[in-house]
Amino acid sequence: MTIKTPALPPEIQNLEPYKPGKPIEELERELGIRGAVKLASNENPLGPSPKAVLAMQEVLKDVHRYPDGAGFELRDALARRFGVKFEETCLGNGSDEIIEFLCRAYVRPGQKALAAAPSFLMYSKLVQVAGGVFAEVPLNRDFTIDAQGMLDAVTSDTRLIFMNNPNNPAGTALTGEAMRDFLDQVPSGVLVVLDEAYIDFASAKDCANGCDFLNHPKTPVVVMRTFSKSAGLAGMRIGYALGPEEVIRAFDRVRQPFNTSLPAQAAAVAALEDKEFLQKTRNLVHQGLSDLYRCFDELGLFYVPSQTNFVLVKIGPKAVQVAGELLKRGVIIRSMASYDMPEFLRISVGLPEENQRFIEELKSIATGGPGL
Ligand SMILES: Cc1ncc(COP(=O)(O)O)c(C=O)c1O
Repeated sequence: MTIKTPALPPEIQNLEPYKPGKPIEELERELGIRGAVKLASNENPLGPSPKAVLAMQEVLKDVHRYPDGAGFELRDALARRFGVKFEETCLGNGSDEIIEFLCRAYVRPGQKALAAAPSFLMYSKLVQVAGGVFAEVPLNRDFTIDAQGMLDAVTSDTRLIFMNNPNNPAGTALTGEAMRDFLDQVPSGVLVVLDEAYIDFASAKDCANGCDFLNHPKTPVVVMRTFSKSAGLAGMRIGYALGPEEVIRAFDRVRQPFNTSLPAQAAAVAALEDKEFLQKTRNLVHQGLSDLYRCFDELGLFYVPSQTNFVLVKIGPKAVQVAGELLKRGVIIRSMASYDMPEFLRISVGLPEENQRFIEELKSIATGGPGL
């Protein structure tokens, strides 16, 4: 007898699972090699914040207990750091989970969420899971978010606007002035989500800072950030949101009671205080970006100057093939085919020797190998 499972709703049937960057171990197993480098998931190549590691070790003896479901210590630290009320903070199992809360709480079938195209892929997937309509507004020609285009795309069904700033995968950022101008014009009844996963890497002095807009007089704003990138805690899964109390209360209704683990909470509290590690990370990323830019300039490749820890580079019609060739040589980067930009690659900044390895392999493909 065959087992019959219930029919999937069409929106789930049509959903493509998110394809993360290939793990190093998987590639090494497949190729039978060692020493592969991964520059594909915008991780922190320095490892985790050392203060966070100590804090996690400290709490491991207590993991027979459930974590504090209210995340008191971390939320209290966040409230003090950003000058907001405790009730205006919320934790997520990675900031991915905050996107899930937003969609679960605010998007019903037929309702709409907007984002720039391309931007982080999880918005569209989680809106689709909620049965919502995901609408996209192409980036400007200079790869910045088209704020006016986003405003023009708002309809009476729109509930959420995701502003991924700085943008993944473009690496560009809106200025504070442009963001204020945008927020001033958002129609009422729409919640604006400022996804600032990469804000710690921004070097532009005028880059918008979501915390400046939490008290916008007209438009409700949620700022989401993560410990996955600058704090090096991607494997712990911890992110947070700051926003109006009413929104945070809605998140509490739709979240699991113990959504973030004890070690993750402890790590994040310690990472918030690890200013030395943050500075070291920023320096490494900025130096790495300039090394990558130099390589692209030498090869005559177009790239988008970045406010993040990755850079988007245009290889041309052979980009997917070049990504495959790099993979064969043990260098994992991200093809942008799944972002509808098949001629581009996204390179995360690694350690200097990892960046160098990528640079050498790319140059070898360009000159000696199959060519770019
Ligand atoms: C723009 C953006 N937002 C959110 C996330 C989710 O990060 P996490 O769930 O690790 O906090 C990512 C991860 O790459 C991202 O690029």
